[in-house]
Amino acid sequence: MPGYRAPRRSMQPRAAPRGPRDLTHPSARGTRPSVARDEARAAGEGDEAEEIRRFYRERFLPQNAWWPILPHAYLCQRQRQRRIRQSLQEIGVASFEDLRALRVLEVGCGGGSNLAWLVEMGADPTGLVGVDLVPERIEQARQRCAGVRFLAGNILETDVGGPFDVVMLFAVLTSVTNAETKQKIMEKCLSLLRPGGALLFYDLMTRREDPGTPNYKKLTYAEFEGYLGGRRPRYFKRDYLRRDVAERIVPLPRVGLFAAEVLQAIGWFNIEATFAHVRA
Ligand SMILES: C[S@@+](CC[C@H](N)C(=O)[O-])C[C@H]1O[C@@H](n2cnc3c(N)ncnc32)[C@H](O)[C@@H]1O
Repeated sequence: MPGYRAPRRSMQPRAAPRGPRDLTHPSARGTRPSVARDEARAAGEGDEAEEIRRFYRERFLPQNAWWPILPHAYLCQRQRQRRIRQSLQEIGVASFEDLRALRVLEVGCGGGSNLAWLVEMGADPTGLVGVDLVPERIEQARQRCAGVRFLAGNILETDVGGPFDVVMLFAVLTSVTNAETKQKIMEKCLSLLRPGGALLFYDLMTRREDPGTPNYKKLTYAEFEGYLGGRRPRYFKRDYLRRDVAERIVPLPRVGLFAAEVLQAIGWFNIEATFAHVRA
């Protein structure tokens, strides 16, 4: 994720790395590679899915109860919510009825916070589906948000239903380092949209090639556009609040949170990640 200093997994398997800035909390625990490998085999997947599952288990489990209200995490969520709302408006979701009727899939939904927010906004949970490689995160999502259909599995192997009005792909492709797999994920996401539907995309992107690590790599804009089969993305302004700024402003007595939200909303400090939507 944005600002993420990608950990070198092989060198620090049991440490509590800081991890992705918007999503990872510091209470990572050790890996369980054999369990992950068995799951990957059972699902007919190769080492790649297993590696990604292991990576996210290290970063996200066990869940830090304070994570959602830490300044940076909270502001990242708020900022992303503003972009989702903006995208929905641009694609014609104009009323409560439109929102209620929306069918949405989130690929790599993690603990389900984005879908839970859509429900809070008024979306009908029975129209929402989330899929994620990590079963424990899917369990968290189910506990967080009743009524949404949450599926544990690889999007490339899982029948998620559809078609959907909106598919969300947030912070997923940076941890998929194989270009062919990224292409397949993107094709699958686009194929699940109804005509005129929209893929909402959010991730760390860069203009120049990023050396990355074996398990984390920013996308270049050219690469991203290359996965879209000729479709043109609608980019929003780079969309991420710097952690150091958030952590200084939010704790200010009384005005901190308000000031940080205003600074984000008017576009200051939004410097690291990219939000885009792509019409089917
Ligand atoms: C950084 S998390 C993002 C979670 C959520 N989208 C959010 O914005 O809070 C990325 C998630 O993508 C999931 N993921 C990666 N590749 C996947 C695949 N092929 N199929 C399903 N989920 C995948 C990982 O398991 C991980 O939970």
